[in-house]
Amino acid sequence: MYQFDISGGTKPALYRDLLSALDALTADEPDGVANMANAAALLWEYLPGLNWAGFYRVIGGELVLGPFQGKAACIRIAIGKGVCGTAAATAETQRVDDVHAFPGHIACDAVSESELVVPILRDGVVIAVLDLDSPHPARFDDEDVVGCEAIARLLSLRL
Ligand code: SME
Repeated sequence: MYQFDISGGTKPALYRDLLSALDALTADEPDGVANMANAAALLWEYLPGLNWAGFYRVIGGELVLGPFQGKAACIRIAIGKGVCGTAAATAETQRVDDVHAFPGHIACDAVSESELVVPILRDGVVIAVLDLDSPHPARFDDEDVVGCEAIARLLSLRL
């Protein structure tokens, strides 16, 4: 069993703890699905105010649902569609304060109000996206973007 110290300090400190726990859990494990599963569990445990945390992988030119925490979600998303598909198509983080105002947002869970999707790149190519959803409007700020982009960089070679 793993026990992690969730400091309860500042948000950057929370992300530092999360990153270090994720590094420790994934460093010696070559299986990407196992690493995404533990990453989703850590994100769920560390970050308050989420209703979904997980991954979509680029497989056969589309996004396919990977390990996650939260309610069952849509399985396949076309590149360019929704928030996840936009992050995959642009290779840029998508922070959406109000999902209802995002054209083409795909509502997997009706309670979602805001969303953060961070692409995971390897050798400049998007191989997956990290997706966080929240029932609170504008749940994600610049510190969440910085923290989740650091997680995406760590996972780049561990998926
Ligand atoms: N809302 C996402 C779909 C994935 S679920 O949120 C888990 C989107 O618009 O791409």
